[in-house]
Amino acid sequence: MEYKTLIFEQIDNYGKITLNRPDKLNALNYQLFSELDDLIQKIELNQSIQLLILTGSGEKAFAAGADIVELNNSDTAPSGRQFSEYGSKVMLRLEQLRIPVIAAINGFALGGGLELAMSCHIRFASEKAKMGQPEVNLGIIPGYGATQRLPRLVGKAKALELIISGNTINALIAKEIGLVNDVFPHEELMDKTIEFSKLVLSKAPLAVSAAVNTVMASDYLNLQDGLTFESRIFGDVCGTKYFKEGTNAFLEKRAANFTGQ
Ligand code: COA
Repeated sequence: MEYKTLIFEQIDNYGKITLNRPDKLNALNYQLFSELDDLIQKIELNQSIQLLILTGSGEKAFAAGADIVELNNSDTAPSGRQFSEYGSKVMLRLEQLRIPVIAAINGFALGGGLELAMSCHIRFASEKAKMGQPEVNLGIIPGYGATQRLPRLVGKAKALELIISGNTINALIAKEIGLVNDVFPHEELMDKTIEFSKLVLSKAPLAVSAAVNTVMASDYLNLQDGLTFESRIFGDVCGTKYFKEGTNAFLEKRAANFTGQ
């Protein structure tokens, strides 16, 4: 599939997706979702990609939400539901990738744009970024997961405050409430994101992927089942060559080398 609304690059062992509708502030339309779905499926199968960065093109936006031109046509209950289910399915697929996915929020992340960022495992934001769930201004509620992921990230009260007011917050407030992991000067956002990515990529890849998988499972497992799941995955990683290299390196007082294994 040829991508018109996305740019994908593989740089060594990580991938970078750039949402590419800058004239429309990277608004998420049907074409973009279908291209993203196709790309995620390819990344699922590509063992050489061990981490993914997601960002927006242009100077202004990560993504300014679902495409309101398309949304405007979803004016019946069945079509609205279908609109929500499709985007939600693609975002869940992104969240369920077994590699870390990092959003580099380079500007507006509103509505579906913030929901897409929340489907990533980690969020870094530019000082210029602005975030919010403005759907109530359009007479709707969020439809790509904010009612579920936002309270998990910032607590129910803050999530409701944002969703029922439609207020936009800046990056520093987003960090204060736990919505983004860190905030950087605009020009440094991508360098800092890559610096963190390279740190993660220097660790044992199967341990990193097991950590992503196990922590994400805490969203749907109760404590007892979660602990059982953690022990099972812990056992799995104990059986890997990376575990032997990591522990041997410690005992031999040298740095572990997980590359080329
Ligand atoms: N869907 C479709 N098009 C969008 C869009 C969206 N969510 N957000 C922005 N655009 C388009 C604008 O219509 C405009 O297109 P045009 O040049 O053909 O008229 C272009 O992107 C630039 O946006 P503009 O509004 O002129 O930029 P701005 O800097 O004045 O304002 C925002 C930026 C983000 C405040 C404003 O675009 C906005 O409020 N967007 C909608 C946000 C929203 O409600 N998202 C939730 C959707 S569920």
